[in-house]
Amino acid sequence: LFSGRVDFLLSAPQLKFLPEPTVPEIAFCGRSNVGKSSLLNALTGRKSIARASVTPGRTQELNYFEVGDPTVLRLVDMPGYGYAKAPLAVVDKWKKLVKTFLRGRQVLARNLVLVDARHGFKDVDRDMMQMLDGAAVGYRIVLTKADKLKASELDRVIAAVEIEARAHPAAYPALHVTSAETKHGIPELRAAILEDANL
Ligand code: GTP
Ligand code: MG
Repeated sequence: LFSGRVDFLLSAPQLKFLPEPTVPEIAFCGRSNVGKSSLLNALTGRKSIARASVTPGRTQELNYFEVGDPTVLRLVDMPGYGYAKAPLAVVDKWKKLVKTFLRGRQVLARNLVLVDARHGFKDVDRDMMQMLDGAAVGYRIVLTKADKLKASELDRVIAAVEIEARAHPAAYPALHVTSAETKHGIPELRAAILEDANL
């Protein structure tokens, strides 16, 4: 499926611009720069489908991509959080948008919380996971940029993240360890997404 049709659909700055909820959706969440767009590109085997359509500064928008012909799945590149320089009003607006989306979107098949393998969980990730736990929205934790660590360092981060994930009721206990660079973990994540979307 991922090697077939993948197209940019739209950028939604507000919930009223979301597409009709006709097919399952997978949301990609994470801190700014964690590698959301790169992971989307790696999953779909495109060099820049995610980035090409996303203008810098448009961080308030939900960017939609469609997969399949006809469309059977949509991938949602969520605005990055934890951007230090963002004004408080912008952060508040972002939180409201994301919260309402993640809690209320009926066709949301799964949420992916991306975490930089070099850093592990940050407080903004913990806030996000707590919100998802509270709303009982299930999510998979995806470590990104695994290629940037030595095997021993990676093992240590995986162990720490797995232990902490167990305390989050809505988190999948099993982690996905990925690299958009080497494509490590990409086939497994594709399979997980298809399973989540019942495809
Ligand atoms: P925002 O849209 O700004 O929130 O960022 P993002 O989460 O979409 O991150 P993006 O995919 O743009 O990647 C940020 C930087 O990390 C880029 O310079 C990427 O090339 C780099 N990067 C992303 N994934 C990987 C990876 O798996 N390995 C390595 N080495 N670099 C990566
Ligand atoms: Mg991006």
